[in-house]
Order: sequence, then C-alpha cells, then structure tokens
Amino acid sequence: MTPLLTYMDRPVEIAPGETVLEALLRAGIDAPSSCRTGNCQTCLRRAVQGTPPAESQNGLTEAQKAMGYFLPCICRPSSPLNVAPPDDAGARLPATVRSVEALAQDVVRLRIETEAFPYRPGQFLKLIASDGLERHYSIASHPEEDPFLEMHIRLHPGGRMSRHVMEIAKGHRLHVAGPLGTCFYEGVDKDQPLALIGAGTGLAPLYGVLRDALRQGHRGPIRLYHGARERKGLYLREELEALARARDNFDYAPASLDTGGDLAALALEAETQRASRTAYFLCGGENLVKRLKRDLFMSGASMKAIRSDVFSPASL
Ligand SMILES: Cc1cc2nc3c(=O)[nH]c(=O)nc-3n(C[C@H](O)[C@H](O)[C@H](O)COP(=O)(O)OP(=O)(O)OC[C@H]3O[C@@H](n4cnc5c(N)ncnc54)[C@H](O)[C@@H]3O)c2cc1C
Ligand code: FES
Repeated sequence: MTPLLTYMDRPVEIAPGETVLEALLRAGIDAPSSCRTGNCQTCLRRAVQGTPPAESQNGLTEAQKAMGYFLPCICRPSSPLNVAPPDDAGARLPATVRSVEALAQDVVRLRIETEAFPYRPGQFLKLIASDGLERHYSIASHPEEDPFLEMHIRLHPGGRMSRHVMEIAKGHRLHVAGPLGTCFYEGVDKDQPLALIGAGTGLAPLYGVLRDALRQGHRGPIRLYHGARERKGLYLREELEALARARDNFDYAPASLDTGGDLAALALEAETQRASRTAYFLCGGENLVKRLKRDLFMSGASMKAIRSDVFSPASL
C-alpha cells in the first residue's frame, strides 16, 4: 500500500490528525518552522506527487499552488503525498550591501543589490548572513523603479540579525532567497477602497504596495495607517505627508502611543462603515493583525479581501 507520507521517496509515519510538519520533525528530518499557524511560510515545502489539501495552500499564489507548494504546519493529508524541499523558493542568491541608513532610532533602511530576483513589492525575502543566520524581511522597493532591494529593519536589543545589520556597511556580502508571500497588489479592483494598516516596520511592505498601487493607476481611495510607540518612530512621515498632499486619492493616518494614538482603534473606527467594499493589507505583530482581522471581518470585510503578514519572531 502507498504510504500516506513520503519525504523525497522515504516513507514517513504520520499519525491520524498529525500535521506533515510534526511527522517530519518526529522522523528527524530537518524542517524549519516559525509561526506554525500557516502565516509566515517558513515551513514551505513542495508536493512532488499527490495533491495537498486546499487549506494547506491558503495564502499562496496561484502559481505556487499549481506547482504543488503547501504549508506543512497546517497540512493534514488524506491522500498520499511525496514531499520535497521548496527548491526555487530556497535558492540562495549572492547580494551586496548598497547602503545602510537610519530611518528612526531603532529602524534602519537596508538596500542591497542582487541579480535576477523577480518580486512584487510587499512580498518578503529571506536574508542570509555570512554565518548562515536567516531572517525574513519585507520588500519596500519597486522592481521597475529601484535598482536595489530595500528592507526596513527594526533593531531588536540582543537580536542576532539586528546585531549583524548594525555591523555591516556598503560592499558587505550577504545572500537572499525567495521571494515569498502574497501581501502584494494583485486581484484588487482599481476603483475599490484600499486600506493599508501596519505598525513599526510593518510599514515596509505597505510602502511597497502603496507605490505599486499608485504606479498601476489605482483610482479608489487609498488610506495608509501607520502606528508606532513614539511619534519619532513614525519614520517616512514627511515623505508620506507630502505624497498625501500631492495625490487626491491618497490619505496618510499616523498614530503614536505617546501622543494618545491607538492604531487599531483609529483604523477600525474609520473603516467600519466601508469594510465590506475595501481591500485590506495588514502587517505587523501577531496581536495587532489578529485583532484587525477579527474586527474587520465582524464589520463585514470578506476574509478574501484581507491580505496580511505577521512579523513573527524566528525560532531561535
Ligand atoms: C513574514 C515576515 C516578515 C518580516 N518582515 C520584517 C520586516 O520587514 N522588518 C523587520 O524589522 N522585521 C521583519 N520580520 C521579523 C524578522 O524576521 C526578525 O524576526 C526580527 O528582525 C528579529 O530578528 P533578530 O535576529 O534581530 O532577533 P532574534 O535574535 O531572532 O530575537 C531577539 C529577541 O527579540 C525578540 N523578537 C524578535 N523578533 C521579534 C518581533 N518581530 N517582535 C517582538 N519581539 C521580537 C525575540 O523574542 C528575542 O527575545 C518579519 C518576520 C516575518 C515572519
Ligand atoms: S511555520 Fe508554517 S507557515 Fe509559519
């Protein structure tokens, strides 16, 4: 009888109700993971034989689904699957640092150059340091406008990649892999309202999506809500205020906790009335994204119209 799960043709025991990720780990197979809830795509794998359950492909692009990509952490197969590493999503490309600049006290803008890295603004990539350390970062640049990949990186005290980023300078060599994720401007009606809501460096993918939407001639109203703990953490504020003055259909709504602003409350109060018509992009920490998703859904937003990236910490 064909086993329910094989990994590169090697049979792997899987118990009823167990996920593919749990089965691979129990079998001692190296299987990276982070959120284990189907959000971060760290565990992405490919079925080279068999069809993964539809729910294990939630959030992947049509192209990825067609190629058999799925998320093992939420995959409970009911028919045989032969699983392999995600070859092209895992391919590493060399990259060179072009610049590292401060955007706020604890946020830097890292620009790197690499060859042949097709992506959509708002997707994320895997940044790989010279010692092999890997972390995900969202892409704020635009492939048709910028000759570099741009990331906004929050420097966490004691963070391993944060420390690395603080030490690197122009000319430093890194690697990247990807791109990953579906938080980009696609499948949106050009006349539909767009709401982009993010905290901290959650602005990076939203900034990419905003530029892409404007470049593609989005006609509906676009509102960008950005939250930070302190007002000085609202990086790119002047640039976004200037853009809001220049564009009739773009509006910028900053909120900082130190001046009494509450990002979620601000966005939800303004969005409730138009939730059923709006396309949403939500980026930031897990609590914020979960709360916004739940409350927007309760206000009439369709789950299909909500794209999100949770910036979950890597498993150390
Ligand atoms: C899909 C995705 C996209 C991401 N995009 C971005 C991005 O555009 N910009 C960005 O700055 N980060 C982003 N992240 C987070 C990033 O991948 C790293 O987790 C983060 O930079 C910390 O890495 P580090 O090695 O410096 O810290 P680590 O050494 O991993 O952790 C050090 C300490 O900081 C804490 N910590 C780590 N990450 C977080 C966090 N996100 N929130 C709260 N505490 C944390 C850890 O619990 C630990 O105590 C993204 C994550 C995902 C999954
Ligand atoms: S670990 Fe599977 S999607 Fe995050």
